[in-house]
Amino acid sequence: MQILLMCVFVFPGEKGDRGLIGPQGLMGDKGDMGTSGVPGINGKKGDQGEQGVCECKDGMGGAEGRPGEKGAKGDKGDIGGQGLQGRTGPKGNQGIIGLIGPPGPCSPAIQSAFTALINQSFPTSNWPIAFPIVITNQQGHFNPLTGIYTAPVNGTYVFSYNLAVAFRMLKVGLFRNLYPVVRTTEGNDQATTSQTIVLHLTMGDQVWLQVKNSETNGLHTDIESSTDGLFKAHI
Ligand SMILES: *[C@@H]1O[C@H](CO)[C@@H](O)[C@H](O)[C@H]1NC(C)=O
Ligand SMILES: *[C@@H]1O[C@H](CO)[C@@H](O)[C@H](O)[C@H]1NC(C)=O
Repeated sequence: MQILLMCVFVFPGEKGDRGLIGPQGLMGDKGDMGTSGVPGINGKKGDQGEQGVCECKDGMGGAEGRPGEKGAKGDKGDIGGQGLQGRTGPKGNQGIIGLIGPPGPCSPAIQSAFTALINQSFPTSNWPIAFPIVITNQQGHFNPLTGIYTAPVNGTYVFSYNLAVAFRMLKVGLFRNLYPVVRTTEGNDQATTSQTIVLHLTMGDQVWLQVKNSETNGLHTDIESSTDGLFKAHI
């Protein structure tokens, strides 16, 4: 194919009159958004509106709320007042035996002893028998003229007597403060009878021998037969 290039030269004419106004063109495209304007100043406060109407009534009590979280541990409290005394506790077990204590101060041992004889047969009956012949009576606790022994201290005493009997029977008693403690009866002529007794006496107690009555007063003594009361004190 061949392209023909031609050059045409046109010479300009005279200028024509202005043409008529053409018809209105079509609406152009929407322009780009303009930049934001300057903010306006605040408007005036409006008037108070009318009071609204509320038709609600008092509500029912709500359900109990859930327990709150456990609080932090509080500070230590003050010391409380002293409580009442408790009851006496049960008795404890027996303790072990203690050591032997030191010996106490020496106290003179109280002794009391006597032996005495009658020197006359058939003494007064129903009355304390005197034992005038004293063999031993160091402390003098026995009165040979009345025949009464008086206990010097609280303690345990041994009493014994040996009696010769002749011509009639003998009934004799060992008395303590007006009452017979032991009695002895011997019905044989030319005999002896005896008794031994341990008595606990309170200081001041009195002890003696006594024949029952004149029918039973065979109490005898002579140079060959003694009748005695022997009293020994064991404190
Ligand atoms: C018995 O002895 C006492 C004291 O020695 C004496 O006083 C009294 O006379 C004597 N009695 C007889 C009968 O010997
Ligand atoms: C002797 O015994 C009596 C009667 O038990 C008592 O009251 C008194 O306190 C005793 N005296 C002494 C010194 O122990």
